[in-house]
Amino acid sequence: MSQKHTVTAALPYANGPLHLGHVAGVYLPADIFVRFLRLKNEDVVFVCGSDEHGAAITLRAKKEGTTPQAIVDKYHSLNKKAFTEFDISFDIYTRTSKPIHHQTAQDYFKVLNDKGSFIKKTTQQYYDDEFKQFLADRYITGTCPNCQSEGAYGDQCEKCGSALSPIDLINPISTLSGKPPILKETTHWFLPMNKHEQWLKTWIKEGKLDEHQHHNPKEWRNQVIGQCMSWIDGGLQPRAMTRDLDWGVKVPLEEADGKVLYVWLDAPIGYISATKEWAEEAGKNWKEYWSGDTKLIHFIGKDNIVFHAIIFPILLKEHGGLVLPDNVPAYEFLNLEGDKFSTSRNWAVWLHEFIEENPDKKDELKYVLTSIAPESKDSEFTWKEFQARINNELADILGNFVNRAIVLTNKYFEGKVPSKGKLTNVDIDVLNQLAEFPQKIEKLIRAYKLREAQAEAINLARLGNKYLAETEPWKLAKTDMARVETIMNIALQITASLTIAFQPFLPQKAKKIAEFLNIELLKWNSFGKEDLLEVGHQLNKPSILISKIDDAFVEKQIEKLEASKIQKESTNFPPQKPETSFDDFMKMDIRIGEIVEAEKVPKANRLLKLLVDTGVDKRTVVSGIAEHYNPEEIIGKKVTVLMNLAPRKIRGVESQGMILMAENENGELTFVSPEKAFKPGSEVR
Ligand code: MF3
Ligand code: ZN
Repeated sequence: MSQKHTVTAALPYANGPLHLGHVAGVYLPADIFVRFLRLKNEDVVFVCGSDEHGAAITLRAKKEGTTPQAIVDKYHSLNKKAFTEFDISFDIYTRTSKPIHHQTAQDYFKVLNDKGSFIKKTTQQYYDDEFKQFLADRYITGTCPNCQSEGAYGDQCEKCGSALSPIDLINPISTLSGKPPILKETTHWFLPMNKHEQWLKTWIKEGKLDEHQHHNPKEWRNQVIGQCMSWIDGGLQPRAMTRDLDWGVKVPLEEADGKVLYVWLDAPIGYISATKEWAEEAGKNWKEYWSGDTKLIHFIGKDNIVFHAIIFPILLKEHGGLVLPDNVPAYEFLNLEGDKFSTSRNWAVWLHEFIEENPDKKDELKYVLTSIAPESKDSEFTWKEFQARINNELADILGNFVNRAIVLTNKYFEGKVPSKGKLTNVDIDVLNQLAEFPQKIEKLIRAYKLREAQAEAINLARLGNKYLAETEPWKLAKTDMARVETIMNIALQITASLTIAFQPFLPQKAKKIAEFLNIELLKWNSFGKEDLLEVGHQLNKPSILISKIDDAFVEKQIEKLEASKIQKESTNFPPQKPETSFDDFMKMDIRIGEIVEAEKVPKANRLLKLLVDTGVDKRTVVSGIAEHYNPEEIIGKKVTVLMNLAPRKIRGVESQGMILMAENENGELTFVSPEKAFKPGSEVR
């Protein structure tokens, strides 16, 4: 049986759209890795799908005032479509609500339960007596016992980052009823992780388990080993594998009525269900991709490390007959323009929006995201760098070289590949260097160093440019056409190799270059060869490979980000916020105001600059409502103004206060206006 690869990308929760942080740190690197393996003719399956269970989903449903089913349906199709359009080449993108998954997860649970892998325990858990429901960790908030900040969740304090359990919280509150929960007995099936500490340590650190189950720990990222070790050294605790919830995969035992599998048990099994579903369609045997010497590789974000490198391996080993991961390449976080990506603050570049607005820049985005991928530490996406990388690297190096090679051949040889004559030292040197690239890049990709690997691919184009700059065929064309033939032949052979080098990273651009060259896409074993194009082969006329990004584009993107943030800050009130005091409320000076002037803020699509009569003064307020109101139609409107908000500069204009807006589920905004003709200055309380 030939060696197989099973590559997984973390199943994203179907509770929101994907942003560039997800793409850069999981889906794009996984896709590059898989595309490379396919180029090597390796037997690989690449699986993913939507994670539709757990509190992440039910909480989101509550927030949007809808059902969990509606949430997963909406985001599953949104995300699936975005992946397809972004050319992420999954063999299957499925979802954990499929019957095949429920069946697989339940069977898996039964196997472990029959083997005695779980311990059944009755403990006291928080319960909301009003909603008659046990409370998942995320449904309980309270004061953090470590940093004393309020609003910590039952599983984690987001202020100080410490991991918590609901019992640790001071003054716990149920987010359902807003009241303190009571403790109530319930029975659950626990995975005694403490029993697995010994073998986990040896396996993670030394890579040894048995003859099949081994990996090279030197290939694992330091952060992954480090995080696992600190978890294990801190002592592993039994962890409940079931939950009292009505959303998820039902526990397949009669005595467990009303309970579901813990989402972190069901979701990784989703990788197996996905492989099964794919295998059935493709006429393969799924088991071969999960046993023998198959290499199982999990691409994930760093917040998923313990689930993939500790908990899932325990479950795999307990089950038996399945491989453990060969590697768990985990990515750090990507930041955006100096701040963390945040869904709730709407500080994000959404993949589906980018694609919709820039259907011709998908590979450009891939290039930038790989260049800055957070492989070993957090990194940052800025639109300025997006522009610089595309203009100075992709266009000036790759685009320029490919264009010169083909245009000159068209000019001197009517687009036919000329022959190679006697080689000079410069030629021999460049061909030798070309021959070294495949190995160099392969080694980096297999070590999951995709940033460097892509940089080497660019270096190959750089080598081509340098070769042309040194040999100057455009000068020789007047004196020594035989020499020009050799030079152009070599430049074209380099171009042909570039179509291979860039296939994993920029599949569309690679295809386009191959079209210019009028060749089929080549496999990796052709890479670096000096005779990929036959003498006399007819090229096509090139078109533009990479368009440059102008300043206006960058400004538009930054403005869009800022505007959506302002809009979010001023309008998105989640339905349930923690209790506030009357005194705190009374600190706000809210009044009726009348809009007396309104105009667009130049170069800002979403912003209006308003002059508002507040009864006590006339002041300027910048508001993110230009997409909802025309300036002319709102003069004379009575609105509600938060007067004592600290002034701040928005796009160079000082905004003194905020207009209160109501937002509906479609994101439409409307003024909050008094129902009777009240004078400006009337107080709102
Ligand atoms: N849905 C999880 C997240 O977004 C990842 C699940 S990965 C799997 O963080 F292994 F559980 F599938
Ligand atoms: Zn804290």
